[in-house]
Amino acid sequence: MVQPEHQRRAYLEALGIDVWLPRDQAEPHGEDMLDTDTQSDIRVWDDLRATVAACTSCGLHTSRTQTVFGIGDPQADWMIIGEAPGAEEDRRGEPFVGRAGKLLDEMLRAVGRSRDRVFIANILKCRPPNNRDPKAEESAACRGYLQRQIELVKPKIILAVGRIAAQLLLETDEPVGRLRGSRHQLGDIPLVVTYHPAYLLRSPSQKRKAWDDLCLATRLMREASV
Ligand code: URA
Repeated sequence: MVQPEHQRRAYLEALGIDVWLPRDQAEPHGEDMLDTDTQSDIRVWDDLRATVAACTSCGLHTSRTQTVFGIGDPQADWMIIGEAPGAEEDRRGEPFVGRAGKLLDEMLRAVGRSRDRVFIANILKCRPPNNRDPKAEESAACRGYLQRQIELVKPKIILAVGRIAAQLLLETDEPVGRLRGSRHQLGDIPLVVTYHPAYLLRSPSQKRKAWDDLCLATRLMREASV
């Protein structure tokens, strides 16, 4: 179903994404112009965002600057799931905005996607100190938030970037090198694993494989759309 432009705009605004329009296309809009389903979806997102922002379920709330909820189109076909915010993300409140994030943006652009047309989230909503790996109790405490985001977005494809995201989502100890390159499932949603962009910055020779993974994800997403 194609979503009317005014609904898409209201959604993006509800997620805190600026929507820029040429002056002659700007028109009055707001929640009162939306149907009841859309209004209630917006409220669900607002409540989830507020719950995450106030979360004290694990020790990471004591060291965070702010939570990093996730960003993008709440009705995206693609959902990208990373590990956890780093220093820059903790400072800005947005996932993948550091050097690795710039590479992720380029990777998405290479397959015709942009940051505002996918939904990007992390396993953890708070930064682990010194970027250490998430502890089991931290990812368990955060799991429900990501689960809810997946239920609300209902993506056609999930791209898990890096070992931590892939292993936690798929509940496996297999290394990324063995998980990538094939189709997995998260419930009824196809999932593709690829290398973390931070790893690709250190090992650019692996970019070719990441490209293959993105092509696989594109193919699976198209299959899910027909
Ligand atoms: N690495 C991640 O996995 N997520 C981010 O948001 C930033 C870096």
